[in-house]
Amino acid sequence: MRQVGMLDLATESKLFNDEIRGAVHTVLDSRQFIGGPAIGELESTLCAQVGTKHAIAVSSGTDALLCSLMTLGIGHGDEVILPAFTFFASAGSVFRTGATPVFADIDPRTFNIDPERIEAAVTDKTKAIMVVHLYGQCAEMDAINAIAKRHGLKVIEDAAQAIGATYRGGNACALGDMACLSFYPTKNLGGYGEGGMILTDDDALATTARQMRNHGESQRYVHERVGGNFRLDTMKAAILLVKSRYLDDFTQRRQANAAKYNAFLTGAPVQTPFVPESHAPVYHQYTIQCDKRDDLQAFLRDRGVGSAVYYAVPLHLQKCFDALGYKAGSLPVTEAACHRVLSLPIHPMLTEEDLQTVASCIHEFCETAGPVAVSASEAS
Ligand SMILES: Cc1ncc(COP(=O)(O)O)c(C=O)c1O
Repeated sequence: MRQVGMLDLATESKLFNDEIRGAVHTVLDSRQFIGGPAIGELESTLCAQVGTKHAIAVSSGTDALLCSLMTLGIGHGDEVILPAFTFFASAGSVFRTGATPVFADIDPRTFNIDPERIEAAVTDKTKAIMVVHLYGQCAEMDAINAIAKRHGLKVIEDAAQAIGATYRGGNACALGDMACLSFYPTKNLGGYGEGGMILTDDDALATTARQMRNHGESQRYVHERVGGNFRLDTMKAAILLVKSRYLDDFTQRRQANAAKYNAFLTGAPVQTPFVPESHAPVYHQYTIQCDKRDDLQAFLRDRGVGSAVYYAVPLHLQKCFDALGYKAGSLPVTEAACHRVLSLPIHPMLTEEDLQTVASCIHEFCETAGPVAVSASEAS
């Protein structure tokens, strides 16, 4: 049976293993394991990639979010509006600053935060909006920035899944006040270990973020603020520099895979990703919706096809956020999505035959499983 997995890091790594060995040896020989030229080079490469003035390499995507919030001075008594349909780190980082995460519901077609829900959630305690460009597709940034401007709020882009995505011709990471990337190995630009990046056009925020990355130190042994150790290791930066050279090609492969799925899945009663005209997603995930999601996932598993649910439990219903007072039904669109989404293999190493295998399994399931159609109001 043909196996199609969610990832194929083994095949992928054959493309650049020799270059990576060379880069690692250079760092070993330099014996500089913190700081050093690879960090600065990675930062300049990412600035050029996304078109921001500053990039600050940090220890993970989570730390990029935490460090950005700390840089903006967000803490006790403040509120940050964000979606609950995202990875835990988005809300966890807000909570760790002492601020209150305020969850707003999502658009059922794009899964991204709904600007109208943001507006309704603004209070006199709101300090920032954290948008998440979920699955590699940008949120509705014009509407969101307009709300932020009206209420004097900062906008943080959680672009962990969205490096390379564009919105109305602008790049993800250059659409708000500060942006955060993750280099977790499964990400579109995945490292060999943890890693992340903060991006901004704002000189003052960049200076503060650099200090916060290093315990808030402004000069040797002078601390005007409390930061953390959010530094990225030099070895990981050197590896990421090699991998960054493959990013555009890998992004195009993901986009081509998505176009093929769209074609191969024509006629199947599942909802394929909705892409508004002004958006060019990078398909960190290719996520379909199906009323019999769990049955479909089991069917695919039995036929050697991997898939994943991002996310099965919405953040407003996580036990650790009980005290925030949300209940089942608080965010109906988010909760419905949690029951219906299924991400299919979309990684850059897939062949046309792999994509056809996945699509035929889905057709076969739909023919045998009874009604699985999406309701008309939700179909794009
Ligand atoms: C949307 C989102 N935000 C934040 C993170 C956190 O990144 P990291 O795992 O690098 O800490 C991730 C990825 O894991 C993510 O998908």
